[in-house]
Amino acid sequence: MKRVAVLISGEGRNLQALLDAHDRGLLPATFVGVVSNRDGAPGLRRAAAAGVPVAVVRHGDFPDREAFDAALTLQLEAWRADWVVLAGFMRVLTPAFTTHWQGRLLNIHPSLLPRHRGLQTHQRVLQAGDREHGATVHFVSADLDGGPAIIQGRFTVSAEDDAQQLAQRVMKDVEVHIYPQAVAWCVSGDLQLMPEGTVMFRGAPLSAPLTLADLEPGF
Ligand code: GRF
Repeated sequence: MKRVAVLISGEGRNLQALLDAHDRGLLPATFVGVVSNRDGAPGLRRAAAAGVPVAVVRHGDFPDREAFDAALTLQLEAWRADWVVLAGFMRVLTPAFTTHWQGRLLNIHPSLLPRHRGLQTHQRVLQAGDREHGATVHFVSADLDGGPAIIQGRFTVSAEDDAQQLAQRVMKDVEVHIYPQAVAWCVSGDLQLMPEGTVMFRGAPLSAPLTLADLEPGF
């Protein structure tokens, strides 16, 4: 059974979706710990309620990003994590960290990457007049929000959508479905990142990200 650690900064709705999928028998992994860089992140309570060990590694306690990331790796290695899942983790990671965990480090981003890397994606979708929006699960590389994509869920933006509604739709209709599915594929060995950056899914290279239509029953 693969050992999964989750990094959070806030609410932890994606974390909850992972824990729920695990409870329902859909995610064959052991959740070895949840790290937050913020005290009092609500997601920590979700982890504790599920009986998953928690740790707080405060970024402000370290002189620079390198030292903070080294402390994260120390904690993750103490838990013997095989996979590291970023779930609303709001810190930019150093190349040393992303290289160390390459191929075992996942992120979810609330946009249809490569569109709208970075923050405030929902406002930017509206400003740009995009017809579609969604979220992407990807392997993390040193390039912020730029690593190889695994699965993308999309929907049509409606005239009534404001940024808050878009955020809700992205979370409820896309993120909490695609992230548990992507992690399940990874921990079961269905999905892997090759050294040159190709994503292999069940033995064949992915030429485009998987979609909501590829979700298995239950997700
Ligand atoms: C999600 O929309 C995620 O994609 C983004 O931040 C939000 C985190 O929400 N990076 P939560 O902490 O999982 O509730």
